[in-house]
Amino acid sequence: DPTLTLDAEKAKNEGGDSSPPALTVESPAGHLSNCRKFIATWLSASLCVDYFSVYAKVLFNKRGGDFILPLRSLGLGHLGPIESKILAGFPKNGLISSVAINNAFAIFTCCTSTLVSVVLTDIAASANYGFSDLGLGRKTIVEYSSPNIAKPFHIGHLRPTILGAFLRNLYLRAGWEVTAVNYLGDWGTQFAMIAVGFKKYGSDEALLRDPCKHLFEVYVNITKDAETDQNVKVQAAAFFKKMEDGDEEAIGIWKHWRKLTVARYGKDYKQLNAHFDVYAAESEVGQEWQDKSVEVLERLGHITPVEGSLAKVVDLTPWNLNKGVLRKGNGTSIYLSRDIAEAVRRSEEYSFDKMIYVVASQQDVHMARVIRILKLMKFTWADQCEHVNHGLVHGPKDATGRITKFSTRKGNVLPLDDAISQVKDAVHVLLRKDAQHYATIPDPDKVAEELAISLLKIADFSRRKIRNYGVDAENIESVVHKGDNGLLLQFVYARLVSLRRRNQHLLPVNPKDVDTNLLTGPLVHRLGFLLGKYPDIIRTTITTNEPCKVVNYCFELCHAITRLLNTAGTRGKESEATARARLFMFGCAEKVLKSAMELLTLRPQEWL
Ligand code: ARG
Repeated sequence: DPTLTLDAEKAKNEGGDSSPPALTVESPAGHLSNCRKFIATWLSASLCVDYFSVYAKVLFNKRGGDFILPLRSLGLGHLGPIESKILAGFPKNGLISSVAINNAFAIFTCCTSTLVSVVLTDIAASANYGFSDLGLGRKTIVEYSSPNIAKPFHIGHLRPTILGAFLRNLYLRAGWEVTAVNYLGDWGTQFAMIAVGFKKYGSDEALLRDPCKHLFEVYVNITKDAETDQNVKVQAAAFFKKMEDGDEEAIGIWKHWRKLTVARYGKDYKQLNAHFDVYAAESEVGQEWQDKSVEVLERLGHITPVEGSLAKVVDLTPWNLNKGVLRKGNGTSIYLSRDIAEAVRRSEEYSFDKMIYVVASQQDVHMARVIRILKLMKFTWADQCEHVNHGLVHGPKDATGRITKFSTRKGNVLPLDDAISQVKDAVHVLLRKDAQHYATIPDPDKVAEELAISLLKIADFSRRKIRNYGVDAENIESVVHKGDNGLLLQFVYARLVSLRRRNQHLLPVNPKDVDTNLLTGPLVHRLGFLLGKYPDIIRTTITTNEPCKVVNYCFELCHAITRLLNTAGTRGKESEATARARLFMFGCAEKVLKSAMELLTLRPQEWL
């Protein structure tokens, strides 16, 4: 009984098991899940194998047939008898209409008419098609972006920002309550350096004009001075001590500068469609939380005393993490101790069920220490802290083939603004090629900007998040000419919108009036199948955290839509009923593509 298995799966989901079985990823919902369950139920009964294990092996097929089962994976010995049993016995019905065996794989194909009618009806009936309630009643914190302030946003900031914004969207769509936190890096000797430098290089006027840019210039200049003048570092250390001791003047300056920079970042975040519920900051991690953390660790015997020093150190060698320093020799706090204290504070403030840290893989060791120490402190929620890491965005290769690193300190960075405007110029050139159409775009500048941002985001999201990749500041607009890119998504979406607008009179008022039996053929089947897959894309992505899975899905979807658009007319020789049915299908495709684009943090544009 499918409803029974449904409950069984749900029960598994709710078991609170920290490592849920792979199965729960595909939690039941929608037509394709029903087809899959039907296949698994029959196979399990007929071949006498465990339902859950066979269910997990029935996979989506890339092309030619909808589900594929590697028969050897069942571990039942000789394939001959199994193949005959499946071929002869598998019931064909409204869910699955054909079964084939190919090279030790069983391939199952959905019945087109049921597939199309059920999937399209589901999409039309729901404002949130593809969303789930798997996370209902659970809270997660997604901490992301978290820049070190006092420098302008550069291309390297794009990744942690859009990856986090994507994860926030993803968890929201899976029913979680999400608190998005931006944990600003505004504490440490680096900032004391700026304070020292400001006396020499600072200008209040320049500060107001562009705070990030100015503070950054100050930093670059004073760092140069420090190379020859020992005094600079001594002064900076003294200033930092003042900050740590809560000196009002020192803190006051910081508060002021931070306010200005955060206001500036607000513009970048708005442009990138990234939202935060809370701005936290390293400077605001109270001393009392850090003292408490050290106390707990001391009580549990994890702190090794250091003779004649105020340092507090946790031995992490059993986990190959060397030492975790929680307090420096002169008693000042450190990045690690602030992270620990902040996590404890968050747990008390939000009592979250999960916390995600979107932080570069360069900080893998740091994040592993944070989570390990929280576990040593015996917090049950420490197991639910997850570091979602990502690779580095670096510069192009130099003449000798070596990778160049972007370096904030050396002042060699690609500001995000520049990257966007370069790509935007290239998009503008493209748009202008069709002068007649160009003249009809209401706000071409805004459209070009949105398309440029989509291009940059999709170029990043197309790669696995852990991969490092290079950006050539001289040649960043080349993303425009890459085959499958962000422009493709925006283009296909705009085409669908324009089709709908031009055919208002044919749009079905009530989906029930549509005769989906008029939708036939392999292109319709393919699009119907992809639309049916969307809920599973959201579900599986939550376990991989990989935007590239969603991007690939969007590309497949766009290709399927384009193929059908190019062959199936909506106004030509076909009957009006067929035209209506096709428009209905394209309307559903528009809805799903829009939803997937928004999941990827894009703003779908209507410009055709
Ligand atoms: N501000 C840090 C940096 O730019 C990243 C902070 C990551 N988050 C954290 N909780 N440690 O390097």
